[in-house]
Amino acid sequence: MGKLWGGRFKKSLDTDAAQFSYSIDVDRQLYTYDIAINAAHALALLEAEIISETEYTLIDRALAKIKYEMDHRLDDMIAGDEDIHSCIERLLINELGDLGKKIHTGKSRNDQVITDTRMAVKDHCQAIIAQLQSLLRSIYDQAEKHSTLIFPGFTHFQTAQPIVLGHHFLAYFEQFQRDVTRFQHCFNSADVCTLGSGALAGNNYGLNRRLVARELGFSNVSANSMDAVSDRDFMLEFLSASSILMTHLSRLSEELVLWSSPLIGFVTIGDEFTTGSSIMPQKKNPDIAELIRGKTGRVLSNFVGLQTTIKALPLTYNRDLQEDKTYFFDSARTVIDSIKCMAKMIPTLQFHADQIAASMEKGYILATDFADYLVKQGVPFRESHEITGQVVLFAESQNRQIESLTLEEFQQFSETIKDDVYQYLTLEAAVDAKNVVGGTARQQVAQQLKQIKETYKWSSNH
Ligand code: ARG
Repeated sequence: MGKLWGGRFKKSLDTDAAQFSYSIDVDRQLYTYDIAINAAHALALLEAEIISETEYTLIDRALAKIKYEMDHRLDDMIAGDEDIHSCIERLLINELGDLGKKIHTGKSRNDQVITDTRMAVKDHCQAIIAQLQSLLRSIYDQAEKHSTLIFPGFTHFQTAQPIVLGHHFLAYFEQFQRDVTRFQHCFNSADVCTLGSGALAGNNYGLNRRLVARELGFSNVSANSMDAVSDRDFMLEFLSASSILMTHLSRLSEELVLWSSPLIGFVTIGDEFTTGSSIMPQKKNPDIAELIRGKTGRVLSNFVGLQTTIKALPLTYNRDLQEDKTYFFDSARTVIDSIKCMAKMIPTLQFHADQIAASMEKGYILATDFADYLVKQGVPFRESHEITGQVVLFAESQNRQIESLTLEEFQQFSETIKDDVYQYLTLEAAVDAKNVVGGTARQQVAQQLKQIKETYKWSSNH
């Protein structure tokens, strides 16, 4: 088939080189955007009196027909084309003959491909934000359901202080809310129309760039044609935001893997999101959580890949940049699928209150609250920390918990300890004492849940 650029060549491209360099397998995913761009460009050509009203109508109709056909049989429409831009131009010429040959006036594949990609990034940001909303909802529902269930809080994965499970879920809620903000930011970065920048220098036809931007739903027009065709920052932002989001999903997955292990037994993940072993009949493996955790590496590597590709490129367009879309589509797909699975898996979690309670009978989870009690009695914190350490050591030597020590035993360590100490040495008292904004007190968690529900205008499920 005829190339877009054959005129100055005597020989055709080597077949291996052709296969190596063609991007149609990836950029076919841009076909709807590319057709929209051609249509908007035709309108600008009409306005600039480069094509007539009749010609514009013919082009517009032919593009609509091509779109219809591509929607139904994309594979058949692509016939050995180098990329989606060549493909659509070839199809237009097939439809319109010489008139089709006018469509590339004042545009280049360099400004075209990046405008297509910006549209794709915008759409994917919106799709991810929509998925994140359902993830946030499923996290919120678990938080609400377990807003008073006392749960061990960890640092270094060692028993630290009691919290409520709702508070733990709301910690993830915060992370995913920040992801929403990051993707909104990516959307804004991508929301700049680059068509009209030509190959690098602009175009000779005075095309109305604002008209084109409006037609394509962009809020802004790029300010520098050289930057426009070489800038991939918005894609790096997308890949970075994707990688941060996957990191959040991965940490949550890791907790589900740990919590669902029979060694810990805090939670059972629904059968729909676990698999069995081909050899060990007792196994119920958290494969989906593991895969989400595993795919995080791949999404991070996409970010690193594109950053590395761009790092030493001179202005402006270089063919290296064609690699960008592989990274983008792979991360976008992985992120969307991962969020979808996590959002559906979370409602299947069944927590086991008995196992959770039993886990807090060891590990001296109330030690810090005991130290805080001493502070209340006027002991400076550093001293109370030391005394508490000794109390823990003593309790440990007896294989007992702090709260089971008698008053006489306590008083060997500090005279200031009175029999009101036992009121402070319960899980409930320890949790509810954290009554500060952002703290785990049940009252605070209830307040946070209420605020979220109002912000998101959610009705109750329970
Ligand atoms: N397939 C190319 C890409 O994705 C389109 C632009 C090609 N431009 C060029 N001058 N060869 O980047």
